[in-house]
Parts: sequence; structure tokens; C-alpha cells
Amino acid sequence: MTVTLKEAVGAAHSRIYAYGAARGENAVPNEDLIGPIDSSDEWIRQRTGIVTRTRAVPETTAVDLATLAGSEAIERAGIDPAEVDLVIVATISNPKQTPSVSAIVADRVGANPAAAYDLNAACAGYCYAIAQADALIRAGAARYALVIGAEKLSDIVDPADRSISFLLGDGAGAALLGPSDTPGVSASIWGSDGSKADAVGMNHTLTEFRDGAAPWPTLRQEGPTVFRWAVWEMAKVAKQALEAAGVRAEDLAAFIPHQANMRIIDEFAKQLGLPDTVKVARDIETTGNTSAASIPLASHRLLEEHPELSGGLALQIGFGAGLVFAAQVVALP
Ligand SMILES: CC(C)(COP(=O)(O)OP(=O)(O)OC[C@H]1O[C@@H](n2cnc3c(N)ncnc32)[C@H](O)[C@@H]1OP(=O)(O)O)[C@@H](O)C(=O)NCCC(=O)NCCS
Repeated sequence: MTVTLKEAVGAAHSRIYAYGAARGENAVPNEDLIGPIDSSDEWIRQRTGIVTRTRAVPETTAVDLATLAGSEAIERAGIDPAEVDLVIVATISNPKQTPSVSAIVADRVGANPAAAYDLNAACAGYCYAIAQADALIRAGAARYALVIGAEKLSDIVDPADRSISFLLGDGAGAALLGPSDTPGVSASIWGSDGSKADAVGMNHTLTEFRDGAAPWPTLRQEGPTVFRWAVWEMAKVAKQALEAAGVRAEDLAAFIPHQANMRIIDEFAKQLGLPDTVKVARDIETTGNTSAASIPLASHRLLEEHPELSGGLALQIGFGAGLVFAAQVVALP
């Protein structure tokens, strides 16, 4: 007799219930960084929009930041932490390859024995993780998912590197997702282009460092290459995401792009033809670029400053090292 497997049954839809946020303790002004890179406060403000970036003290880890952000999201969602059965942490800055940040965070937030894994998609990591959590909830593989972007980038910054050092900050942002009667996460437009792997990423491997062939690996980028790619290719991806979600720019309450550079954010807003009614996240000014953490941090802040956006639609797009990208429209909690 053939035995038929019982079908997994998921929720009809998923949505974000709440956000959480934790930033590095110190607000580091441009003045503190310009010496080793022969730069100026004015240059950094004009070219990036960054005035200060948040950086963590040496004792604080990405796990600590992720735990704080994750706990806040769970509490605000009003869910028992024990009900969280999936934890995904998007990160590129865990100095320990294994165990994962997510397994430790799952335990610390009270979600042990939730399924837990880390995801490496750089600055697109949070949007990749949202796509996965939504799909897994609908597939019946999870009911409540905690998605976190967590980075301590200051550990992998060379203060003398002019291409990226002044951009980066430390922080973690979290979103708690669960079942929903109506769609709260649209189809994602996501992808990669590994032919441009050299445009941004680590400059050395850990084995080169071990063998004395290279210094401690740090982040580098070909700034103008990434800038052009972001402005031209990512604006197209953002438009595709709107189309996939079946919404127009004027239907949005908010636009929450990866906080890479204020000029990229402004260019996006222009190319998408966003009306003034759409609030644009500009957390980069005081947080800097926190890679996987930047979109949930910016989302959390936008809702704190504009609670009236609650229930509205937000277009979010992440892009970065790989190269990789992901975009989708979400209903704001
Ligand atoms: C990094 C970035 C801010 C540089 O700005 P830019 O306008 O492209 O600057 P360029 O590299 O073209 O350099 C312009 C000038 O500034 C100078 N410059 C470069 N870096 C500098 C720095 N840190 N401080 C001061 N001057 C600098 C250059 O020497 C050049 O001088 P010149 O005109 O006399 O030749 C910008 O390219 C960027 O944000 N790129 C994308 C970042 C991103 O999205 N990353 C995603 C992964 S997270």
C-alpha cells in the first residue's frame, strides 16, 4: 500500500507585526574619521548625506544588537517568544563562522528551539530574509518568524580606506512576521550578478591573514561602479517590485531603500516619480550604512516618527556585495 505524505499547510498570507531596533552606542561624527582618509566633514556630507554614524563599543557584538532588536520586535508584536519557530539573521560581519548568530539569538530571545540560520546577502540580506520568512509561513514551515539584520561593521573597517570606511555603522533591526488574512508581503524581485563580485566586498581571505600574506580582512568597494549600478539597475528593480505587487508609486505610504548613500536615495525617489505624500526613509544621516540592518532600522524609525504610516504600504529595496539585490512591498505594522 502506498502511503501518501501529509501535506504541509501554511497560512494564507503573512505580514509584519512589529519592528525592533538597536544601534551602536556611539554617534561618531565625520570629524573623527577624516584624518586617516584625507577627507573633510563637508565632502562626506555632500557625497553621502552622512553626518554621524552609530558604532558599537568593543564589548558589544552583533549578537547583542540582534538580541535587543529581536526582543523588542517580539514584545511589540505581543507574541509569546516561545511561539517564534523561525529565526533568520542576515549578517556579513559575524567574526565567528560558526555557530550562527541566529541560533544564539533564538535562545536569548526565548525562542529556543526555533529553526535558526544566518543569511549572507550583504545589504540585500534583510529583503532576502523577508522573502524567505513570508514563503516559509505560507508553506507551513513556520508560523511566527523573527527576521533580523545585524551588523558590527566597525570590526571589518580599515580606518585608512577612503572607499568605504566613512560610510559604515553598527546596528540591528528586526521584524516579527506571522500569519495574516490579507497579503502583507508582496512577491519579491530578487537576484544576483556574481560577474561583479569584485565591486564590493572583503579585500582578503581569513587564510591569507592566517598565513601572514595579508592584513586583517576589511570591506572595500569601487564606489563609482556600485553607485552607477545602484542608480540605474536598482531603480528598474524597484519599479518591477511595484508592478509585481500591483501597486503604483502614488499608492505607497513610504519608500525604504537600503541606506547606502543619500544621493542614491534621492535619485531613486526621482526615478520612481514618488509624490510628496510618500515618506522616504533617510536614516543614513545619523546611522550610516549598516548593511543588512539598514532597512529594518530605517523602517522602525520611520514608524516612530510617523505613526500615521501604520497600515500603509512601503516599498523596500536592498542591494550590495555579490552583487545581490531584493525588493518587495510590505504592509507597515
Ligand atoms: C563611495 C562614494 C561616496 C564616493 O563618492 P563619488 O562621488 O563616487 O566619489 P569618486 O570616487 O568618484 O571620487 C570623487 C573625488 O573625491 C575624491 N575622494 C574619493 N574618496 C574620498 C574620500 N573618502 N574623502 C575625500 N575625497 C575623496 C576622489 O579622489 C575624487 O577626487 P578628484 O575629483 O579630485 O579626482 C560613492 O561612490 C558611493 O556612495 N558609492 C556607492 C556606495 C554603495 O552604495 N555601496 C553599496 C554597498 S553597501
